[in-house]
Amino acid sequence: HERVDVARLLSQQTEANGVDVHGWVRSLRRQKKVAFVAVGDGTTLESVQAVLKPEDAAQLSTGAAVRLTGSWKASKGSKQSHELQVTQVAILGANDAEHNPLQPKYQTPEYLRTIPHLRPRIPANALLLRLRSQVIASLTHFFNQQGFVQTHTPIITSSDCEGAGEVFTVSSNAAKDSEQRLKPGDQAQVEHFFRTNKYLTVSAQLHLEALAQAVDKVWTLSPTFRAERSDTPRHLSEFYMLEAELCFTNDLSDVMTVVENMLVAVASDLLSSHTGAELLKARESSQAEHESPTDSLTAADLKARWTGLASGAWPRITYAHAIHLLQTAVTTSSATFAFEPSYEVGLQAEHERWLAATVGEGQRPVFVTDYPAAQKPFYMAPSPTSSESSGGDEHSTVACFDLLVSELCELAGGSLREHRVQELQVAMQGKGVEGGGLEWYQDLRRYGSVPHGGFGLGFDRLICYLSGVGNVRDVVAFPRWVGRCEC
Ligand code: 4AD
Ligand code: MG
Repeated sequence: HERVDVARLLSQQTEANGVDVHGWVRSLRRQKKVAFVAVGDGTTLESVQAVLKPEDAAQLSTGAAVRLTGSWKASKGSKQSHELQVTQVAILGANDAEHNPLQPKYQTPEYLRTIPHLRPRIPANALLLRLRSQVIASLTHFFNQQGFVQTHTPIITSSDCEGAGEVFTVSSNAAKDSEQRLKPGDQAQVEHFFRTNKYLTVSAQLHLEALAQAVDKVWTLSPTFRAERSDTPRHLSEFYMLEAELCFTNDLSDVMTVVENMLVAVASDLLSSHTGAELLKARESSQAEHESPTDSLTAADLKARWTGLASGAWPRITYAHAIHLLQTAVTTSSATFAFEPSYEVGLQAEHERWLAATVGEGQRPVFVTDYPAAQKPFYMAPSPTSSESSGGDEHSTVACFDLLVSELCELAGGSLREHRVQELQVAMQGKGVEGGGLEWYQDLRRYGSVPHGGFGLGFDRLICYLSGVGNVRDVVAFPRWVGRCEC
C-alpha cells in the first residue's frame, strides 16, 4: 500500500486500488447501510470523502486520527469526482469526542484563542500555517535573488532600539536557581546573570546595521517583543519582524523600492499558488467545517488586495501632504474623525485608515514619508535639505516612511539611518537616549561608516493582510498579548 496525502489524492483523476490515507476525521455521517467519513490531513482545505461499512465507523468520531485503506473510485453525484471505498480502518489516535474542546460546530474566535494547541486542526487555520510557510519561501527567494544575506540577530539585547520604553527585562532567576553551584566569589553573577539589565529585543535593526556594514545588504525574520499595553487587533507582545538594511544609499526611495518589490513578489507568488486559490475558496464558502470567519471580506475583496500589492507603483506622499489631505477632507466634510488631524499630534489609526482608503483606493498600500523628527526614534537621518527640513527646528523632518494599508494601518516602517557620529550623538541627547548601552552603535559611525537605510515589516500583520483574517491573534499559532499567554 502506498500512503498518499489528501491534496495529492484529491487531484488524482484515475481509479486506484490499495490506497492508504492518514488523517483526522473532519465529519461523520452514519446511515443504515453505509457511513460517510470526511478525512483531512492539513495538506488542503478539502477532505477525502470515504465510504465505510457502518460497523467499521462505529468507533470513529470527529477529531480521531485514522488510517483508511481502500480503493479510489469515481463517485456518482457527490461533490467530489472520486471517493475512497474503504476496506480497512485503523484508529491511529482515539478521540474523546465528548471532552474535546474543539467541537465540530462554529466556535467563536475568542474561544478558539483559549485553545491555541488545538486550533490549528481547524482546516482554515491549518491553511494559515501553510500560507506563513509559503510567504517565508517567497521572501527567501526574493532576497536571495537581490543579493541580500540572511542573518540572525540576538534576542537578548542591551538596549531599547525604539526608545519607547516597551521592553521586557530579562530576569536573572536562572542564575539564582543555580546559586549553590556558584563559588563564593561569583556573588555578582548571582545578583545579575548578565551583570546589568538586559532586554528582549524590540527590533533587530541596530544589530542589522552592524552586519550590513560588512556585507552591504542583509535581512532577517526574527522574533521581537514589546511590553505594549495596546489591546487592538494589530498588536501582539511577541511577533515576527522582517527587517532589511542596505548600504551605500542616501536615497529613501531605494529602501521603499525594496519593500515594494518584495511585496510585489510575495503577492505574485500567492496569486499563482494553490494556497492562494484555497484562501479565496475559504472566503467564498462558509461551508468549510468549523471555520471561524473573523470579518466580512469577500473573496473578490481579497483578490483585489493581492492584485493591488502585485501591481506595484504604490502612492508615495509626504507626511505634510497627508496632513493637508486629512485637514481638507475635514473642512469639506468628506470625512469625520474622532481626532482632528494635526501636524504636531501625528497620525491616528483612523487617519491612517482614511489615507489607505482614499490615496491607496483601499487596494494599494501608501507610503507616507518625511515625518517630523519629534515623532520618530533617534537613529533616523534628516530629510534631504529643504527649507522646511534643515534640521534643528521643530519642523525638521526625517528621511523615513510608514507603509499604510487598509484596516491594519501600519504594515512597515523604515528610514535612512544617521551615519555621522556627531549628528547621531546630538539626536540621542535630544531624545534622552542613554549612550551607555549604545557605545558599540556609535562605533559603527566611527570606522568606515557609509550612508545606509532599512526597514521593518510586521510579519504577522502581513499574514493578516494577505489572508484577510481580521485579527493578528488569529494568524499567530500561539499569540501573546497583554494579560494573555495561554500555552
Ligand atoms: O515601526 P516599528 O516599531 O519599527 C521598528 O522597530 C524599526 N526599528 C524597524 C526597522 O526599521 N528595522 O515596527 C516595525 C513594524 C511595524 O510597522 C508593524 O507592522 C510591526 O512592526 N509591529 C507590530 N506588529 C505586531 N504587534 C506589535 N506590537 C507591533 N509593533 C510593531
Ligand atoms: Mg513604526
